[in-house]
Amino acid sequence: MSNDTLSITDNRTGSTYEIPIENDTIKATDLRQIKVNDEDFGMMSYDPAFGNTASCKSKVTFIDGEKGILRYRGYPIEQLAEKSTFLEVSSLLLNGELPNKKELEAFSHDITHHTYLHENIKKIIDSFRYDAHPMGMLMGTVAALSTFYPEAKDIFDTENNELQIKRLIAKMPTIAGFSYRHIMGLPYIYPDNELSYAGNFLNMMFKMAEAKYVPNKVIEKAIDVLFILHADHEQNCSASAMRSVGSSQPDPYSAAAAGVGALYGPLHGGANEAVLEMLAEIGSKDRIPEFIERAKKGEFRLMGFGHRVYKAYDPRAKIIKDAAHEVFEETGKNPLLDIALELERIALEDDYFVKRKLYPNVDFYSGLIYQSMGLPTSMFTVLFAIARTPGWLAQWKEMLEDPETRIARPRQVYTGYDERDYVPMSKRK
Ligand code: SDX
Repeated sequence: MSNDTLSITDNRTGSTYEIPIENDTIKATDLRQIKVNDEDFGMMSYDPAFGNTASCKSKVTFIDGEKGILRYRGYPIEQLAEKSTFLEVSSLLLNGELPNKKELEAFSHDITHHTYLHENIKKIIDSFRYDAHPMGMLMGTVAALSTFYPEAKDIFDTENNELQIKRLIAKMPTIAGFSYRHIMGLPYIYPDNELSYAGNFLNMMFKMAEAKYVPNKVIEKAIDVLFILHADHEQNCSASAMRSVGSSQPDPYSAAAAGVGALYGPLHGGANEAVLEMLAEIGSKDRIPEFIERAKKGEFRLMGFGHRVYKAYDPRAKIIKDAAHEVFEETGKNPLLDIALELERIALEDDYFVKRKLYPNVDFYSGLIYQSMGLPTSMFTVLFAIARTPGWLAQWKEMLEDPETRIARPRQVYTGYDERDYVPMSKRK
């Protein structure tokens, strides 16, 4: 008997089965041979929310949740945050290796020269209400891009894919900037090709009457680091949506719109917005114990705490917490910081959180920085989406290239009625 197998005895029939083990997993389809009779469909695994199911093999990002480790293509997030740039990290995620000087210059040039949007996109953004949530605007506009680039459907043309991938990475900040200006009732600011990716984003958000927008270098650097930290996170909810929608082979804009929709939720990317709303509701340090008690009673979630994978401090939260101090030097300390720090201190000592290994995650401190930069809370998740776009696209590309990829179509455990006859209206209660 090979060691790399699982021996399963079905006590209903006394039959035993040898199931091969590969990468410390078994193929769920290998369970189908386990039957009680020939008509039996065969056994399935049941895993709502996929808490213990590997949906794919991937080389993009590695996380060790117990040790708080995060690596993009093998490089520790701490080193990339300190030494790299968001565009270099985007190229690394997409292509698997750090680009050389020539490759990075070419990639940056291409991104810079695809930041413009078709003028009709302005009409789409204009059509949203003045108080539309920018994540809803982003989701709709990214989906609309699929109609401006119909050739994007040709997803097995590698050169075409590369162009669409660069277009989407390049245009996300422009859509974000135009959306923000729409909400504020301000004129749209066009991209400035002389600025960095982060600097140009700030330009399209905040330029006013000055002839040329000059980004604050500390803020520009902090945005670039925050984008690096949010760039990918293996099979998170939105990457999983990108892969699942992508598996039916639409264009990448349509798949990315699904990713934006998944990220929008307060349990995922929307948490950074929810953290600020929670801190504002707490209002002062002396009210923290009351909120901790309510969280422990399950009355609400401590936003920015907990993680499906990290059962240690999210390494990104550590880096963001340090970056916050540099930003606050420039912008003045965010008054909610003290509440956040005290909330973290108390929660990390409280058995409810310790037992459940609930630590601050990437969203706990990021919003404090964004707010101090003058961003409205409704824009926080939009920044997360800008940053996550290269990660979504790297996962999408890998999914397309994976010979094991098929259309994502899970099974179910049916718990509904057996067959029953139609009831005419006259006989219904
Ligand atoms: C992101 O997947 C990713 O990688 C995501 C992300 C990425 O980069 O893509 O890292 C980004 O989405 C970070 C997470 C942001 N969300 C939040 O901060 C929202 C608050 N957090 C939770 O809702 C929750 O922790 C999740 C959604 C993040 C994880 O939920 P799980 O894994 O489904 O955990 P669970 O709901 O099963 O909770 C386990 C227990 C429960 O208590 P019991 O039923 O065992 O008594 O922990 C409790 C939960 O009630 N719990 C919390 C809590 N999170 C979990 N209790 C209070 N506050 C919380 N935040």
